[in-house]
Amino acid sequence: MPKAELHVHIDGTLQPSRLLDRAAKHGVDIPYRSVEDVENAYDFDNLQSFLDLYYLGTGVIRDEEDFYLLMLDYLSACREQHITHTEIMVEPQSYLPNGVALETLMSGFQRAIDEAKAGWGQSVVLILSLLRHLPEADGIEVLEQAHSTYSDRFVAIGLASAEVGHPPDGFAGLYARARSLGYRATAHAGEEGPAAFVTDSLDLLGVERIDHGVRSADDPALIARLARERIPLTVCPLSNVKLKVFENMTDHNILELLDAGVRVTVNSDDPTYFGGFLNDNFIALHEDLKLSREQATRLNRNAFEASFLPEDVKAALLADLDRYLLEHPVR
Ligand code: HPA
Ligand code: ZN
Repeated sequence: MPKAELHVHIDGTLQPSRLLDRAAKHGVDIPYRSVEDVENAYDFDNLQSFLDLYYLGTGVIRDEEDFYLLMLDYLSACREQHITHTEIMVEPQSYLPNGVALETLMSGFQRAIDEAKAGWGQSVVLILSLLRHLPEADGIEVLEQAHSTYSDRFVAIGLASAEVGHPPDGFAGLYARARSLGYRATAHAGEEGPAAFVTDSLDLLGVERIDHGVRSADDPALIARLARERIPLTVCPLSNVKLKVFENMTDHNILELLDAGVRVTVNSDDPTYFGGFLNDNFIALHEDLKLSREQATRLNRNAFEASFLPEDVKAALLADLDRYLLEHPVR
């Protein structure tokens, strides 16, 4: 199927070989010598143990070419995986402290996006993702800086990084400002944090979408609300198993959420770190949870419907999906 992905961090698409060649290029000392060394490090106990490696990876991405190649590698994977539309989180706070200018990052990314659009009609939305382990004021500063030059590139803001200890109520000012500037809003919540963080993200931050949100299942009233208000959850199955949010894929609650009427979607989060791109997530759900073609289609349709695209573009992509499904009927 033509697919949409709504939850992917560009830094989480860094290929091990790129980590090595960029580190060598910039003379950054990293504790890995081979692709195998890097892959062996993809063994996480929790979100924080992953974030430590993830921020090591961002330390080797420094010039325009690095950002270009990072984005082009991911968009090339989208082409292979038939991800016709993707909404990508960009996290400037991972780079600015290394002396990288916002302009460097944005021009490298934009060059790759322009090539992918011209080359194979790739549809891309960028989300300005702020880091919650840093002060809210820092996030507001980055928002203002991005808005002053790149208001036409970013469609939405998001909130990522360590959830526990960094609750949503600390970011109400950031979200109020972003929404007043016309940005759409999403936030990570209910991955390692409790269901209450999902409720607070909706009520205090005014988000339209929740990234992860699987722990909403601990609060039946919240599940009923998510279903009633048609609030999308961007669920990341392989990520959740890798970071031990669920012990095994067979324990994952995505199909229960779908059955409860929640608008769930499937996403890869940080595909090179978690063992698979979007198709691999669908395949894992099929193998371990007996995901049917009808369910896969419903999850994917949810993703197009929950996208931050303008309504006319969304309608055109949904029409492409419908055309494909007519030609390849679900048995
Ligand atoms: N959770 C929080 N922050 C992140 C994640 C995640 O799954 N991936 C990259 N940054
Ligand atoms: Zn994420």
